[in-house]
Amino acid sequence: MADWIPPEPLVQRAPHLVKGALNGSLILEQPRYRAEVERLQAFLEAPGPVALEVGVDHGTVLIAHARERQDWRWIGLDVRRRKIAKAAPHAPDNALPWAADARTVFALALPAARLDRIDILFPTPVTNPRHMLFTPGFIADLRRALRPGGVVTVASDVPGLFAWIAEGFADWEAAEAPWRGEVRSRRERVCRRDGIPVQWGHWR
Ligand SMILES: C[S@@+](CC[C@H](N)C(=O)[O-])C[C@H]1O[C@@H](n2cnc3c(N)ncnc32)[C@H](O)[C@@H]1O
Repeated sequence: MADWIPPEPLVQRAPHLVKGALNGSLILEQPRYRAEVERLQAFLEAPGPVALEVGVDHGTVLIAHARERQDWRWIGLDVRRRKIAKAAPHAPDNALPWAADARTVFALALPAARLDRIDILFPTPVTNPRHMLFTPGFIADLRRALRPGGVVTVASDVPGLFAWIAEGFADWEAAEAPWRGEVRSRRERVCRRDGIPVQWGHWR
């Protein structure tokens, strides 16, 4: 497979609106989603460290982490509603799986300096610029959401995508890999099975 190259960036006509699935930022103003944002805010009111995983798929890593580390709270985002609906019944009380676009959530729903950890495992190597996750704006939103010393982890088996992401974190500090449990994500299991190299980045 040819390596990934970034799609041409979108011309942002209304910078206050976040591009994304589910109509981007406007979605959170609808009553149905307002309730979901309030649920997030209530979840974040409890004291203690908070981790957020982007692109949780069926939530296997999220749920395993939440079961093992009950002193943390774990938020899991995925744009695919059906996957989140399957994960939700298995989530313990300290986990919040949420069907939402991470770009919208980071830009509009998360308070500043509340997260201790953000994991983005095997982000999709998109070709449509509308679906781009790692834009400079998104990386700025990650920075805003983290507490001082909080760590972003990214894993990818797509060298061109990883290089693009690493460039976005060029002015961050390299960090130690945070703790993780034994359960591996679907893509990581495929990479292990097929001997595909995976690159990891940890930045604070
Ligand atoms: C390549 S899959 C990797 C899934 C899983 N993390 C793994 O390692 O197997 C990427 C996942 O990210 C989700 N995703 C893509 N863009 C997203 C976004 N903007 N916000 C939240 N989830 C997103 C996709 O629906 C998909 O489940």
